[in-house]
Amino acid sequence: MARQSMGWNPFNQKRWVLMFLVLLVFSISTVIVFRPAFNCGWQKQYYQGTDDTPIHLTSPTAGSNQNPLQFMNSKFVLLVSHELSLSGGPLLLMELAFLLRSAGAKVVWITNRIQTEEDDVVHSLEHKMLDRGVQVLPANGREAVETAIKADLVVLNTAVAGKWLDAELKEHVPLVLPKVLWWIHEMRGHYFKLEYVKHLPFVAGAMIDSHTTAEYWKNRTRERLGIKMPHTYVVHLGNSKELMDVAEDSVAKRVLREHVRETLGVQNEDILIAIINSVSRGKGQDLFLRSFHECLQMIQEKKLHVPMMHAAVIGSDMNAHTKLEMDLRKFVIEKGIQGRVHFVNKTLTVAPYLSAIDVLVQNTQGRGECFGRITIEAMAFQLPVLGTAAGGTTEIVVDGSTGLLHGVGKEGVTPLANNIIKLATNPEKRLTLGKNGYERVKSRFMERHMTERIASVLKEVLQKAKKDQPS
Ligand SMILES: *[C@@H]1O[C@H](CO)[C@@H](O)[C@H](O)[C@H]1NC(C)=O
Ligand SMILES: *[C@@H]1O[C@H](CO)[C@@H](O)[C@H](O)[C@H]1NC(C)=O
Repeated sequence: MARQSMGWNPFNQKRWVLMFLVLLVFSISTVIVFRPAFNCGWQKQYYQGTDDTPIHLTSPTAGSNQNPLQFMNSKFVLLVSHELSLSGGPLLLMELAFLLRSAGAKVVWITNRIQTEEDDVVHSLEHKMLDRGVQVLPANGREAVETAIKADLVVLNTAVAGKWLDAELKEHVPLVLPKVLWWIHEMRGHYFKLEYVKHLPFVAGAMIDSHTTAEYWKNRTRERLGIKMPHTYVVHLGNSKELMDVAEDSVAKRVLREHVRETLGVQNEDILIAIINSVSRGKGQDLFLRSFHECLQMIQEKKLHVPMMHAAVIGSDMNAHTKLEMDLRKFVIEKGIQGRVHFVNKTLTVAPYLSAIDVLVQNTQGRGECFGRITIEAMAFQLPVLGTAAGGTTEIVVDGSTGLLHGVGKEGVTPLANNIIKLATNPEKRLTLGKNGYERVKSRFMERHMTERIASVLKEVLQKAKKDQPS
C-alpha cells in the first residue's frame, strides 16, 4: 500500500510504485478498502483559517536527509490505537511509528480492541510493523501496564483510545498521564463523552490536525463536559513521499491519466471533475451532483463553449446499501446524465484518479473536514480545488489563489456550479490555481513539515513529562 510506508528510504521506489498503480487500475478487483477521510459530522460553521500555527517552526532541514526526530533516538514510546485498520487514524499513527523507528526510538504498539475474528488486514498491518521493528503487544495484561509505566512517552490516538487508560492501567493512571500526548483527529458528537476524555485535562498535551478542530474541542469540552483542554498543538498533516513521487512524475501521471480515462470513457480533452471521499451526506456528494447538473444546464442555456464535462464520484460502496448511494444514482437517471457521471468504488489508491482528473471538489458539509488529506494530495497533483468554506479546507485552500471556496449547504450549490463553469471555461485559471496549490503544498504540507511539527511537539512533551514525573 503505497500510502503507508514512509520515512527516509534511500531507495527510489518510483518505478515500482508506478507499476503497482497501473496494475491496480487494470485489475478489476481493486482494493475495496477506502481510507475514510476524517469525517467530522459537524454543524454549519464558518471559520476564517489562519496560517499561524501555535508551534514554532524551525526552517526546513537543509538537505532534508536529517531526521528532525533524531532526539528520539533510544527513547521508549508506547502508541495506543483504538483499532488497527486501513482508516485514516491508525494509518497516521503507523506513519508516526515508522518515523520514530527511523530515528532509533524503541516503539511498542497496542491496539485497544479485542479482535474477535481473523482479520487479514490486521495481520498484514501487524506484520508490516514487526518487519520495521515495532513491537506489538496485547492491550491488556502486565506487560502493557509495565510498558506504559516505563515508557518515556505515550501517544493515545483518537478520543476513543482514552477508554484504555482506566480499563488497563487502573491505579497507575496518574503515573502515566504526565507523559501522554493525545492525538485527536475525529470530531463527531459522540466522542464528547467523559467516559473517553475525562483524563484529557491532565495529559501533557493534545495534538490536533487543524485550528478549526482545535477550537471546536476547546469549546465543546468546556461547554458540554466542563473540562479544560490541556496545552494543544495544531499539527497539519503532510503528503507522503510515495504520493509526491507520482505527483512529480509527468510520465507516470500521463500513463495513469490515460488508463483511468479510458476505463471511464472520458476523452483526453474532456473535463473531469471529481469528488474523492467515501459516500456519505456529510461529504456532500448529493449537493455536488446538483451543482454539476446546474452547471450543465447553464452551459446549454448560455450556449457556452466548453469541452465535454464529466463528473466522478470516487468512494462509492453499493454493498453498504445506503439510501444516499441509491439517491445519487436515481438523481443521475432522473436528470438523464448517466453518460456524464461516473461512480468509482472505494479505493485506497488515489494517485491514478488524481492523475486523471482536472478539478477536485471537496464538498464536506456541516463544520467541514477536520483536515481533509485528499485536499493536499490533489494540490500536489497541481489540481485546483473547489471546496466548502469550512473546517480544515479553509486552512489549506487559499480562495482565489489555489482554488475557489463556496458555502456549505443548499446555498452553496449555485456558487459551486458557477465556480465549475469558471474553471471549465478558463484553462489558464485552472493551470494557475493548480500551480499555486502545488507551491503551497511544497512549502508547508509535505511529510517533512509534518515531521518537523511533530518533532517540536514531542520535544516539549518529553520535557514536560520529565518535569512532572512523580518520583
Ligand atoms: C468557540 O467559542 C467562541 C466564544 O464562545 C466562539 O467565538 C467561537 O466561534 C467558537 N468556536 C467554535 C469552533 O465553535
Ligand atoms: C464495485 O463494487 C460493486 C459492488 O460493491 C461491484 O459489483 C463492482 O464489480 C465493483 N466494480 C469494480 C470496477 O470493481
